[in-house]
Amino acid sequence: MQELRNTYIAAVAAVQDEAALEDLRVQALGKKGEISLKMRELGQMSPEERQVAGPALNALKDELTSAIAAKKAALADAALDARLRAEWLDVSLPSRPMRQGSLHPVSQVTEEVQTIFADLGFGVAEGPRIETDWYNFDALNIPGHHPARAEMDTFYMQRAEGDDRPPFVLRTHTSPVQIRALEAHGAPIRIICPGGVYRADYDQTHTPMFHQVEGLAIDRDISMAQLKWVLEEFFSVFFGTKVKTRFRASHFPFTEPSAEVDIQCSWEGGTVKVGEGDDWLEVLGSGMVHPKVLAAGGIDPNEWQGFAFGMGIDRIAMLKYGIPDLRAFFDSDLRWLRHYGFASLDVPTIRGGLSR
Ligand code: PHE
Repeated sequence: MQELRNTYIAAVAAVQDEAALEDLRVQALGKKGEISLKMRELGQMSPEERQVAGPALNALKDELTSAIAAKKAALADAALDARLRAEWLDVSLPSRPMRQGSLHPVSQVTEEVQTIFADLGFGVAEGPRIETDWYNFDALNIPGHHPARAEMDTFYMQRAEGDDRPPFVLRTHTSPVQIRALEAHGAPIRIICPGGVYRADYDQTHTPMFHQVEGLAIDRDISMAQLKWVLEEFFSVFFGTKVKTRFRASHFPFTEPSAEVDIQCSWEGGTVKVGEGDDWLEVLGSGMVHPKVLAAGGIDPNEWQGFAFGMGIDRIAMLKYGIPDLRAFFDSDLRWLRHYGFASLDVPTIRGGLSR
């Protein structure tokens, strides 16, 4: 009996997991367990033998039962301890940074341009990027044989075989919105039209898609003088410093007279600074809207006149924010976007306000 007890108590102590402990319990105390079988033998004993063996067996059964229960509790505690150690969590660690998106410089500058021109009384109009050749060319006094069509490196859309209507084009400038806006609203009108335009061209300062903002002001007595004032006002507010402009005689089929406009700048160590120095940088084309364009827009050129201009948004964004390569605008490189992007709630950086 003593031997039996020592064997089982030692086995319980040595057991490493709950499954082995259960096996041991069955082996000793189960229906066919060693101790259970011994208890059954009590029946065949003489009453004297039974009086000694009975209580001893019962005591052994009780001792083993509680040893197993104690071991079971200890194993459960150890398992919980191990789990707590493994699943330990440091709630004092700083959280992982969540990156915020940013506004692309083109979006930021478009908003700045809209804000400034809104203060000057200009509304915003938009037109489709896929245009008919009539809006993109003919209505702007660029007939089929005109060299400007070839010069603009136009992207033409596909027509089905045998369909010889003129193909749609990806608009090469925002000027077709002049016609659409005149058709829709008539005169007088004062609008700007920002948006994407397309030309087959690619180098450090040209990408096949870029952005322009068109300006159009039509009334009974609008002149070049007002064009010049509006542009100088715009540049000075946009760049936050007085910016001189220079008008150079030029030619566009849709304006007469026409002028290309340069802004004052300096070159120092390879970087441009706008509004100082005595160099000039071309930033836009402009002029008095051609009578044929007014007529194409459905208004009478004998009654109405005004100016139009077209300016590169990406261009002035590069100048204002010191961005060296235009191609990076459209690479979708997150590092670039984080560096040059703007917080979405930033108020457009318009310093100084208007001089009026
Ligand atoms: N559409 C011209 C261009 O893309 C710019 C322009 C607009 C010139 C309006 C004059 C008037 O180059």
